[in-house]
Amino acid sequence: MSSLITMDDLSDEDIQEVLDAAERLLPVAKGDIHLPLLQGRILGNLFFEPSTRTRMSFETAMKRLGGEVVNLGAVASSSVVKGETLYDTIRMVDGYADIIALRHPRQGAAQYAADAAEVPIANGGDGAGHHPTQTMLDLFTIRQAHGRLDGLRVVMAGDLRYGRTVHSLAHALVRFNCELVFASPEGLKMPTEIVEDLEVHGAIILESDDLQNHIDDADVLYMTRIQKERFPDEDEYRKVAGSFSLSADNLTNVKEGMIVMHPLPRVDEISPDVDKTRHARYFEQAFNGVVTRMALLCRMLGVEVPAKIGGGA
Ligand code: NCD
Repeated sequence: MSSLITMDDLSDEDIQEVLDAAERLLPVAKGDIHLPLLQGRILGNLFFEPSTRTRMSFETAMKRLGGEVVNLGAVASSSVVKGETLYDTIRMVDGYADIIALRHPRQGAAQYAADAAEVPIANGGDGAGHHPTQTMLDLFTIRQAHGRLDGLRVVMAGDLRYGRTVHSLAHALVRFNCELVFASPEGLKMPTEIVEDLEVHGAIILESDDLQNHIDDADVLYMTRIQKERFPDEDEYRKVAGSFSLSADNLTNVKEGMIVMHPLPRVDEISPDVDKTRHARYFEQAFNGVVTRMALLCRMLGVEVPAKIGGGA
């Protein structure tokens, strides 16, 4: 495949194939098996916004597969501060790397970069737009817990307006006939154009400004951080800060197999007492970023993941 900008770049079959390949790569991600499938390949990491998990898991994924990584590093120490345009930066790195992982504060920047580059672009988040590689690791985590993606009831909670992870994830889950509940404070609702688009595709969606009422029926509760950096006005942020938080007390009557997910970083949406419950999955979810990005890097670079990895029966 070429670039991965939105989930539309992957068919349902592609999604399952990548998740299957990711599963086979688990022992490689853990470092138990050495498999240099991407030896001699270089990933260019261009992160124009803060990132811990996405940047580091892309880097770990590449290195576990024997590849190398070049980093833009801190924007403040790059030529961006001299006024270099995104177009010029991409044209340069296009010559230095075989694939580029890009995160940028501007919605649409990843598509813009893909149009400028010869090498594939993996969108690591474009403003409040999309975050498809996060969605792949989210799907991996859901499939791992429930054994399937189809027909689940998924509650997405928090900042659905500016949160790009939920924009991409909602698009994907609708394709697998999941029922979605969008729970958010009034000012942070899922954008109308996204809801309408999902409904055109047959989605069953319930919107609510309440979280507790929807937790007990959920198979997945996907919490999100209020995206402070995207608010045009600090006062607007203060009005909603601290709303929608989850503690272990809220989970008393939930389904046995319900999982709590969060793309992280969390601020105050999930109290630490949830970490010890059997429902918490966010740290495994973060680890799953490595395997799924390994599978995506292979696919985007045209390298096949063997059908069988390691010895054993
Ligand atoms: C998310 C992001 O950058 O959109 N983080 C991540 O990639 N794991 C979520 C967030 O920042 O709230």
